[in-house]
Amino acid sequence: MEIAIEEKKGGALAASRSALAAGAKREATVPREDRKTVGDVAVENPRMTCREVNVYYGDKQAIKDVSLDIGRNEVVSMIGPSGCGKSTFLRCLNRMNDTIDGCRVTGSIRIDDNDIYDKRMDVVLLRAQVGMVFQKPNPFPKSIYENIAYGPRIHGLARQKEELDEIVEKSMQRAGLWEEVKDRLDQPGTGLSGGQQQRLCIARAIAVSPEVILMDEPCSALDPIATARIEELIDELREHYSIAIVTHSMQQAARVSQRTAYFHLGDLIEVGETDQIFTNPRHQLTEDYITGRFG
Ligand SMILES: Nc1ncnc2c1ncn2[C@@H]1O[C@H](COP(=O)(O)OP(=O)(O)OP(=O)(O)O)[C@@H](O)[C@H]1O
Ligand SMILES: [Mg+2]
Repeated sequence: MEIAIEEKKGGALAASRSALAAGAKREATVPREDRKTVGDVAVENPRMTCREVNVYYGDKQAIKDVSLDIGRNEVVSMIGPSGCGKSTFLRCLNRMNDTIDGCRVTGSIRIDDNDIYDKRMDVVLLRAQVGMVFQKPNPFPKSIYENIAYGPRIHGLARQKEELDEIVEKSMQRAGLWEEVKDRLDQPGTGLSGGQQQRLCIARAIAVSPEVILMDEPCSALDPIATARIEELIDELREHYSIAIVTHSMQQAARVSQRTAYFHLGDLIEVGETDQIFTNPRHQLTEDYITGRFG
């Protein structure tokens, strides 16, 4: 599997570089001054819909009028130079920005047509529905079992111990962790390797039956083997969930996602099929970034 992933990565990016280097025939790019999003922000039958989203930290604007859909059973990757607002935008999708003092979000974000910023929205439920996996694995200081069982228990998803056990096992199986840890479920989650901890965190997100999983650079602390396992897992998870992933690795975006969104200084510059973004970008800024001219 790792070999297949390597080949795919080489394929997409090598193709993009050589196509661009050869000045492959394509439409003239949109000038860098133009900040209107290029490409279709909407998908048919979306899971989440974001329209004209603005985010401010105090009086500093970090996200400017961004509209983007997250489709069902798709992986959308978000790329762009450091500080362009990828994490900020991702955090809007499950209201994690609420926890940051002075952060203000405007615009509309809906999941299955419900406004997630509506006063009646239960934020705890929302964060189960739209789970999050962070850059640094952050297991609770509890046993492996409890890390997974905690969410389903507080959300009342299991009536008896057997049901809870089943959820724990199934979530870990889906996250590709069960075989490795099934004999030491009572040991601390923090005692696992980095890659195992990250899969534990993914299992924890899955355990509460989410619809969407947000991942902010989930592999940046992992070695290539653990990274390949997580990427494989992301591909499998797409069957059941929608996934939005922030990554600094264009190879990773090319390997795991079907659509890619390119951010620059708070603007969503371009969005499109991942292959198109990497082989035939339509905006000058996207082209500059993917060819390594800046970022
Ligand atoms: N808690 C915060 N308070 C104030 N400003 C913030 C805060 N978090 C982010 N910012 C600012 O918002 C902008 C976008 O930051 P964000 O972290 O979303 O970028 P990013 O694209 O995720 O960057 P990186 O690739 O480095 O993770 C930056 O200018 C950053 O300084
Ligand atoms: Mg970030």
